[in-house]
Amino acid sequence: MLRYVTTNPGKVREAERYLPDGSVERLDFDYTEIQADGLGPIAARGAREAYRHADAPVLVDDAGLFVEGLDGFPGPYSSYVEDTLGIERVHEIAADLDDRRAAFRCVLGYCDGEGFAASPDPVDRGDRDAAAAAGPDGEGDGGSDGTDAEPLPVKLFEGYVPGRIVAPRGDGGFGYDPIFEHDGETFAEMDTDRKNAVSHRGRALAKFAEWYADR
Ligand code: IMP
Repeated sequence: MLRYVTTNPGKVREAERYLPDGSVERLDFDYTEIQADGLGPIAARGAREAYRHADAPVLVDDAGLFVEGLDGFPGPYSSYVEDTLGIERVHEIAADLDDRRAAFRCVLGYCDGEGFAASPDPVDRGDRDAAAAAGPDGEGDGGSDGTDAEPLPVKLFEGYVPGRIVAPRGDGGFGYDPIFEHDGETFAEMDTDRKNAVSHRGRALAKFAEWYADR
């Protein structure tokens, strides 16, 4: 059984559409969200931590909203910004911009404790985290999940969807969905199937599901 690691049931509803019935369940585990300027290292480290916690195959999903006119803000800080400023405020800030284009990005990190054969999707072996943990003197823990253990390989799958920031519309979805418009509809106006067909998570999940079917 695959564990989809998230505190957000909305993400699991989207993931279930891509995976065989009964093959995935939610693991409500709050992994450490390291400070990083990209989603990949956050997902990779979260996947290692969750795998060690669950001792079973895990999929961690890290996503964010990147507003062009704000140099990609809130990006990896999307969760913090949603909790503190709120999505209405993000819309108000974007409303003052000439360029309201934005994108959602999602990175899925898969870890089952094993290595992976080469394929087009990137594998994070913890080199970056281990180097950062080692510091300039080369000291520190070798692990990339805060443990002394060897970094575990994590397979990464990425998805991206362009759109623009608009005044909130719709009552479906979650998070920033009401203020993100793609092809004339906000994500909160779409049902799960329609959102999946175009969304960052749907695109990453489609890649993952194809690869996972052979695993
Ligand atoms: P995280 O990946 O759960 O840390 O999500 C980061 C932030 O992006 C949170 O504020 C989420 O609510 C938001 N977010 C992630 N995915 C989506 C989505 O598909 N739609 C809207 N907001 C999202």
